[in-house]
Amino acid sequence: MKIAVYPGSFDPVTNGHLDIMKRSAALVDQLIVGVLQNNTKNPLFSLEERVKILMEVTKDISNIKVEAFSGLSIDFAKKCNAKFLVRGLRAITDFDYELQMAQTNRILSPGIDTIFLTTSLEYAYLSSSTVKEVAFYGGDIKKFVPDSVAAAVSEKMNQKRV
Ligand code: PNS
Repeated sequence: MKIAVYPGSFDPVTNGHLDIMKRSAALVDQLIVGVLQNNTKNPLFSLEERVKILMEVTKDISNIKVEAFSGLSIDFAKKCNAKFLVRGLRAITDFDYELQMAQTNRILSPGIDTIFLTTSLEYAYLSSSTVKEVAFYGGDIKKFVPDSVAAAVSEKMNQKRV
C-alpha cells in the first residue's frame, strides 16, 4: 500500500491546498493530510477546528484521511508507514525553505521521499495568510477557499473584531 503524508498548518485550507490534495491522492493508495499542532504560531482556527474543516472539504475523496500531529512531520510520516511526504511548490520563493526541509527530512529518514507538486497556476499566488488578511479587512475570499471555509473564516474574523 503506497501511503503519502501531506503535512501543513492549513489555517485555513485553501483551494491551492485542495488542488495538491486531489492531485497527490490520485498518485497513491492513501493520502494522509497531517494537520500540525503548531505551538509557535497563533492559529486562527484551533487544531480540532482545522481537522474538522479538512474532513468536511475532503469528504468526497475516498482515499484521503485527515489526522492531527505534533512534532516532526517526518516522524508522523514514519508512524503512518508513509513512503512519501507531499508538498506544494508555488514559486521560487517556496523553494529554499522546502528544499531545506526535504533534505533534512531525507537525512532523518532516508526511506521517505518528498514529492513536490507544482501548484496549479491559478493558485500560484495563494496562501492561508493572504486569505486571512483579505478576510480581516472585509474582502471576499470565496474565490480562494471552499464556501464552507469562507463562512468559517468570516465568523472568526467577526469574533476578532468585537
Ligand atoms: O502549511 P505550512 O505551515 O507551510 O507547513 C509547514 C510544515 C507543517 C510542513 C512544517 O513547518 C513542518 O513540517 N513542521 C513540523 C516540524 C518539522 O518537521 N520541521 C521541519 C524540520 S526539517
